[in-house]
Amino acid sequence: MPAREILAIGHPALRTKAPEIAADRIGSVEVQSLIDDLIDTMRSANGAGIAANQIGSPLRVTVLEVNKNPRYPYKPTIPLTVAINPVIVPLDDELVELNEGCLSVPLRGNVERHVNIRVRYLDREGTEHDEVVRGLTAGTWQHECDHLDGVLFVDRVSDPSTLATWEQYEAHHRDAFVARITEFVDRVGS
Ligand code: NI
Repeated sequence: MPAREILAIGHPALRTKAPEIAADRIGSVEVQSLIDDLIDTMRSANGAGIAANQIGSPLRVTVLEVNKNPRYPYKPTIPLTVAINPVIVPLDDELVELNEGCLSVPLRGNVERHVNIRVRYLDREGTEHDEVVRGLTAGTWQHECDHLDGVLFVDRVSDPSTLATWEQYEAHHRDAFVARITEFVDRVGS
């Protein structure tokens, strides 16, 4: 299946809160083919995740996957995960400053994320999951779930002077960030 177009910042669909998917609709062709499109689009764009409103389908579903990702080589592996109606609850007050990018935004910037979270969601078979997620992987989950609320990482950038194009990130910020975050991943384990 071909990848779908990814909407860019400024498109109203990215600012729309995605409504929940009723349990009896999860098995429908509409929802199942949307999930296939999300996986194909994420993989062809080398994303770590993508939310349905990023491809113009306002439903509460996101997919995540990291496996030696060239955009984010420091990110630990995330097995392919389909999350329908995900809910995140922070487990404590510990925060980490991450440098994030987004398939819908041509910039990277620093954002504070919770280090320890609980995520509850349904997978594409409708099976319930309840997991504790930590570290950079928790950051990826928070980024994707923000999309489903119409929130972009640029909204959470506390210091706009950290915003950079990918080219400038690689030239001036990547090495220091990767060194800091590699130490963090080694300590937290994810
Ligand atoms: Ni994004």
